[in-house]
Amino acid sequence: MKILIIGAGGREHALAATYAKSNRVKKIFVAPGNDFMEETSSKIQVFPQISLLDFDSMLSLVKKYDIDLVDVAQDNVLAEGFVDKLSKYGIPAFGPKKAAAEIEWNKDWARSFMKKYDLPIPRYKSFSNKTRALSHVKQLPEQTLFIKASGLALGKGVIKAENRKEAYAAIVAMKQFHTAGKTFLIEEGMTGEEFSLFAICDGKRYVIAGCAQDHKTVYNGDLGPNTGGMGCVAPTTLLNQQLFSQIKRTILNPFIHGMLLEDRPFTGIIYLGGMLSKKGPQVVEFNARWGEPEANVILPGLQTDYIDIVEAVMMQELMTKAVRFDNKVRISVAGCAIGYPTEYSKIKGKKIVGLTVASRLPGISVFGAGIKRKGKDYVVNGGRIFHLVAEGDNIAKARERAYTAMSHISVEGNNLHYRTDIGWRELARKAKK
Ligand code: GLY
Repeated sequence: MKILIIGAGGREHALAATYAKSNRVKKIFVAPGNDFMEETSSKIQVFPQISLLDFDSMLSLVKKYDIDLVDVAQDNVLAEGFVDKLSKYGIPAFGPKKAAAEIEWNKDWARSFMKKYDLPIPRYKSFSNKTRALSHVKQLPEQTLFIKASGLALGKGVIKAENRKEAYAAIVAMKQFHTAGKTFLIEEGMTGEEFSLFAICDGKRYVIAGCAQDHKTVYNGDLGPNTGGMGCVAPTTLLNQQLFSQIKRTILNPFIHGMLLEDRPFTGIIYLGGMLSKKGPQVVEFNARWGEPEANVILPGLQTDYIDIVEAVMMQELMTKAVRFDNKVRISVAGCAIGYPTEYSKIKGKKIVGLTVASRLPGISVFGAGIKRKGKDYVVNGGRIFHLVAEGDNIAKARERAYTAMSHISVEGNNLHYRTDIGWRELARKAKK
């Protein structure tokens, strides 16, 4: 089979590496992809010259290379309805249709859906008018609030406000997200630990496919601004079997049935951004795809052939397929340009040293994100440059391996930043036992 993955980052690299393991898959094209992906397997070919949302070019690729299946992996591509468009041409496409993906690209609709089907969520109100939003905050008791852009904002559309004054500023700041921030939500803060749980869905049924903990802020100790994700651990011991059952009963079952009732059957990967609060598991948000960096720590542990799973989903026969994972622990550390997520334009084009060496160490994989080839070198082409993943029998071993491997990598002019405390919650839990 020949697969086309639409997307560019570490998630798509992890997906390409997963498809490459299948004897049934002969070739994987990734558009746009990034140059570092081709290091993983001779089956992988990238097209960085194609723009992500250029549907006509994607269609030309499908025809030229006689592609059997398109995996639409990235949020904004799903929001543009690429799965619907490909289906109209009779091209098999894996991922939710636009109406189902709305659970991610329209947080206002998503919250009203969750309310209607009684999923556990915090109290919230949505606004398209700044003045009304300001007076709403004025009449609320002083408390932590989250101001969220309703549309897609590269994972940065949420502002935490510790008090009224910060909430006023956050409401005003929604304009930085342009159309995505035109409608925004004001949600009461929840306290607890966050988790990212994934389920593969065929519209009517689902299978849980891993749970990880992301580290969203740029600096150690969970400090600094939010990013697309600075590192990740899977599996996480935050959730036990009883909590998994509770999540199925109170969140995933009503989600899958509610989407069916709304005539938006969800086919693909649902990503529950959850919070384990004092009230039990709550929904922070849903995403309609694998997470980055979560995919990097979950997919390498998959023992079932991914193409078999994808086909079972597309035939609505998911339950006939066992989805098996190994029992290793994996930790992912994001290597970023100094200045990310704010200002890092001066770092673009700088040489990255040691990537290939690190990626060939035992138990290590490196997934490229903001990377491109320049002559014989790889250079920086984005804020999150790569995700280094280490596996081990336990968190301590995986972590030691990850940071030893990281020490081989640098960016010209000492311009590489990464957190050195990824996995701290998992380690702290272990120490308590
Ligand atoms: N882990 C954050 C995201 O994929 O949106």
